[in-house]
Amino acid sequence: MARGKITSVRGVRDILPEEARRWWEVERTARDVFARYGYGEIRVPLFERTDLFARSIGEETEIVNKEMYTFDDKGGESITLRPEATASICRAYVQHALYNRPGVVKLFCIGPMFRYERPQAGRLRQFHQIDAEAFGSEDPAVDAEVIAMLMDFLGALGLEGLSLEINNLGDPQCRPAYAEALRAYLRREAGGLGPEARERIERNPLRFLDSKEPAHQEVISRAPTIDGFWNAACRDHLAAVCGHLERAGVRYARNPRLVRGLDYYRLTVFEVTSGRLGAQNAVCGGGRYDGLVEDLGGPATPGIGFAIGMERLLQLMGGEAAPEAPLDAFIVALGEKAEAEAFGLAAELRRMGVRTERSFGGGSLKGQMRRADRSGARFVLVLGEEEMAKGVVGLRDMRESRQEDVARGGIAASLAKRLKDSL
Ligand code: HAM
Repeated sequence: MARGKITSVRGVRDILPEEARRWWEVERTARDVFARYGYGEIRVPLFERTDLFARSIGEETEIVNKEMYTFDDKGGESITLRPEATASICRAYVQHALYNRPGVVKLFCIGPMFRYERPQAGRLRQFHQIDAEAFGSEDPAVDAEVIAMLMDFLGALGLEGLSLEINNLGDPQCRPAYAEALRAYLRREAGGLGPEARERIERNPLRFLDSKEPAHQEVISRAPTIDGFWNAACRDHLAAVCGHLERAGVRYARNPRLVRGLDYYRLTVFEVTSGRLGAQNAVCGGGRYDGLVEDLGGPATPGIGFAIGMERLLQLMGGEAAPEAPLDAFIVALGEKAEAEAFGLAAELRRMGVRTERSFGGGSLKGQMRRADRSGARFVLVLGEEEMAKGVVGLRDMRESRQEDVARGGIAASLAKRLKDSL
């Protein structure tokens, strides 16, 4: 009995070879640009203890409340698929005592993240981020450097028309007064809000500001903003970041209403958006999280970073990846003996770095030549009965439609020379 086909689950995607080539281009550019700024790659696990995310991202956030892929493993431990990378990188930073390394410790990570969100254009349940984090300095120059690197990277991909917005979310000294003022305002406005929203206002009023509910937007738009509550340190920090950005020629806009969906931020936050992405318009978000390493059991260590959504980035890039480099050689073999010979010849050529394909499953010379033609290979190597008997290989230049016999022993060198000459 035929059995039904199994398809992928909702909110995840396959990346087929043509598209994967574009991912490579983006990842290669990230590695190039980040290396110029002294970043090293870190690869953290796809899953962690649930506590790590609850403690860092915040119990009150949408991510922790609603979107985590959490399960008990067979040992009864609560495990969560990582919804982001910052928490894991901070955990690794503490676990491996990377704070003992000199200077600012700069790390980047590229890979899949998991959030149980409602899938829609630009929103997936498994998506990918390019994440960068810098540990160990409170200097606003580090904030500006992180942002400049991000914008360099986006520029290197040829992206235009992006907006960079920046804000300062206050620090533990000035933010409580803001939270109180916001709570008081929201309480006054809470008449029309549901019980969940009202509860959130009491527990964490700032969280209300990133509500996506259309019904909340009007109340949010009139809410007090953080800039009226900054202390001198926060005001100076933002001014210094902005000054450095200007010196680096980075264009930005200050937005005192900008908040982020994760609780670990303090001081600088920023987002890059595009008008071409529809509702899910954020390509990148980031900010400072100076208390987080300490919250995760490490020494007090400032940190700042960002994460770019890979799928959204690719959507903005549009267009096609450069086509795959064509095959150099295609081997056509007639008969059992020739097929066995073809196997060895293909291995020899590939080891020399020649892009080689061969015809599988036999067939007539005509049929195999058709396959060779379709493969786009520059040269075809023919191992027919006659060639086998003479100890030669028929070397056909597909561009010139010319064929000649080359001694079997010299074919690899001869092919390599011709490929070099035809560059
Ligand atoms: P985030 O704003 O939650 O920040 O995510 C960063 C980016 O990931 C978003 O701007 C978006 O492009 C992409 N993204 C998020 N969720 C989805 C989704 N469901 N489908 C497709 N793309 C998505 C963070 O994750 C922080 N860890 C950033 C950070 C690093 N802050 C400091 N260091």
